[in-house]
Amino acid sequence: MKMRYILVATGTALAMVGLFALRDNMSARKTEAKTTVFKLVDLTERTTDPAEWGKNFPRQYDSYKRTVDMERTRYGGSEADPSAVGAEDVHKTTSNIERDPRLKTMWNGYAFAIDFREDRGHAYMLHDQRETDRVLKKPQVGACLHCHASITVAYREAGIAAGAPGTIDEPLLGANGQAQLMKGFPIISALPYEEASKKVEHPVTCLDCHDPASNQLRITRPGLLNGLAVLAASEDPVPHLESVGKWRAGDRAKPYDPNTLASRQELRSLVCAQCHVEYYCASKETLFFPWNKGLKVEQIEAVYDEHKFPDGAPFFDFKHKQSGAAAYKAQHPEFEMWSQGVHARAGVACADCHMPYIREGAMKVSDHHVRSPLLNDAKACQVCHRQSAAELTARVHIIQDRTAALMGRALDAVVALIGETEAAMAAGATDEQLAEARGLQKKAQFRVDFVNAENSMGFHAPQEAARILGEAIDYAQQGRLSLARLGLPAAAKQVAAAK
Ligand code: HEC
Ligand code: HEC
Ligand code: HEC
Ligand code: HEC
Ligand code: HEC
Repeated sequence: MKMRYILVATGTALAMVGLFALRDNMSARKTEAKTTVFKLVDLTERTTDPAEWGKNFPRQYDSYKRTVDMERTRYGGSEADPSAVGAEDVHKTTSNIERDPRLKTMWNGYAFAIDFREDRGHAYMLHDQRETDRVLKKPQVGACLHCHASITVAYREAGIAAGAPGTIDEPLLGANGQAQLMKGFPIISALPYEEASKKVEHPVTCLDCHDPASNQLRITRPGLLNGLAVLAASEDPVPHLESVGKWRAGDRAKPYDPNTLASRQELRSLVCAQCHVEYYCASKETLFFPWNKGLKVEQIEAVYDEHKFPDGAPFFDFKHKQSGAAAYKAQHPEFEMWSQGVHARAGVACADCHMPYIREGAMKVSDHHVRSPLLNDAKACQVCHRQSAAELTARVHIIQDRTAALMGRALDAVVALIGETEAAMAAGATDEQLAEARGLQKKAQFRVDFVNAENSMGFHAPQEAARILGEAIDYAQQGRLSLARLGLPAAAKQVAAAK
């Protein structure tokens, strides 16, 4: 048994070595290919227009433009909302809250209960943000644009206007460029959304992931730069981010900086972590990523629990309209979930699955049509897995169906807890009596939400998703027990039964 395990392990190790050798070889060849690219235009730190970049890199630009495509998978992909198809264009995607009214109950009192839709391709990110009822019907701030627009130029210009040294033509990663970026970030973030929105023109573009001079990958988003600095300073083991381990072992004189320390393979995930993460973003405080204790759901929750707003008020996202519980809302923690999975552990990056190499004539280029790997016949997977596309897709579906079923149970439990808290309130329970149940609702709800907001339906880290949902169910049922222990009059039970 043991021997067999060692053999399998050695086999896997050899396969991985082979894989990395292949990758190195590929990167060497890519560099050769790159140097033969005929430079038609000079790209600068001001070039936000992807069409300009497209003149030098037509293949990448062509696939980038294809992010307008809409095609559905069982749990992902994108589609137009049939009920929202206008006369001339397909404007909006399917509403997630109409699809599952339990979500509406869970978010009652928060903007997500007004409008929350299926995500779609990168080409739509600015449009969809400008059009959502969460922006149109609620006042929002410029911080929303951090992840929905090509915004570094706007940050830097605001920083320079506020006294940061240097000019915008200096490299972003230089000392002056960084000072401008960090100074402008809170200024733009605090502007009313409509005003900040006038300063940007494009959704995520080449400049947001690439250096215009060298084309190297780079991190341009202040939220991630700050987030990684606090994550590195935490104790959370992050074996999949080797450069963090190296920084921790050093003298720590300067904060961790991915642009000087991260490997190329790490950057192939970190460029996505600029946006596909849990964050706090509203008017009371500048956008931040809650990673001071680590990347797992309970570590993030602990950061929020300890956090106070600048005015000293306790931190939460919204007060639940029916139960009165103070609640947190999770947002797309793809990077955090991926971090807990076997792929991250094995060094497989977001780009390996979502931007696989495609052959274009004699060249291999990264597919900039960022989308569900299932829409590409699982070709990305087949670089490492030998199974057929049908088999790989089936394996993804097994994980996703199980996650979805467990999430359904967890949502039912949370909705039941909300209904019973309401009934207890109607029966005259005091805030003090309800405190425990409300606290448990907050915990349960944040966990369901974390898995729900994560867009792979469990695939990025199947066991972690199941662990989180198991905890959610337990917390919700504990909340219901806490209410039962109050021994309220029969009236409360009747109301609960009527729900
Ligand atoms: C091993 C391959 C793999 C890796 C690595 C990976 N993903 Fe995924 N991702 C998937 C699969 C499979 C799905 C499910 C697609 C579906 O349901 O259609 C998915 C779904 C998604 C979705 C939702 C897609 C949709 O169509 O709605 C997003 C967003 C996403 N991943 C982002 C990321 C980010 C960011 C990273 C890195 C932090 C990452 N993924 C790493 C395979 C991967
Ligand atoms: C830290 C990055 C980040 C910030 C800040 C951010 N978003 Fe997003 N947003 C994303 C990502 C990633 C997606 C795609 C994944 C998803 O939909 O779950 C998304 C999706 C969306 C969508 C489409 C799906 C939906 O939810 O209906 C809308 C609309 C949206 N965001 C609005 C906003 C608004 C309004 C704000 C400010 C309150 C905001 N975003 C702030 C990263 C961000
Ligand atoms: C500047 C922020 C930003 C960056 C950087 C970013 N994304 Fe996104 N991504 C978004 C937003 C916002 C959406 C949702 C757009 C919408 O629904 O309108 C999205 C949507 C997606 C989708 C869903 C596509 C679909 O058709 O449903 C996938 C998959 C995805 N991103 C993966 C990635 C990967 C992989 C990376 C890194 C290579 C990455 N993203 C980098 C913000 C970003
Ligand atoms: C969300 C981040 C992101 C955006 C936006 C982006 N790229 Fe890339 N790009 C990548 C990643 C990841 C790679 C793979 C780099 C590596 O492996 O070193 C890449 C690779 C490249 C390469 C190297 C050759 C190759 O195909 O692997 C070129 C050239 C390139 N991109 C051009 C562009 C252009 C032009 C645009 C805009 C139209 C663009 N990129 C937008 C993330 C991005
Ligand atoms: C760059 C290589 C690579 C790519 C690309 C890749 N995988 Fe994997 N995958 C691995 C490795 C390595 C493991 C872990 C094997 C081990 O250590 O036992 C793994 C494990 C898995 C597992 C078992 C998961 C678990 O939690 O135990 C599944 C399922 C899987 N991969 C599916 C996919 C699918 C589907 C895709 C494409 C969307 C994909 N993989 C892309 C390398 C890759």
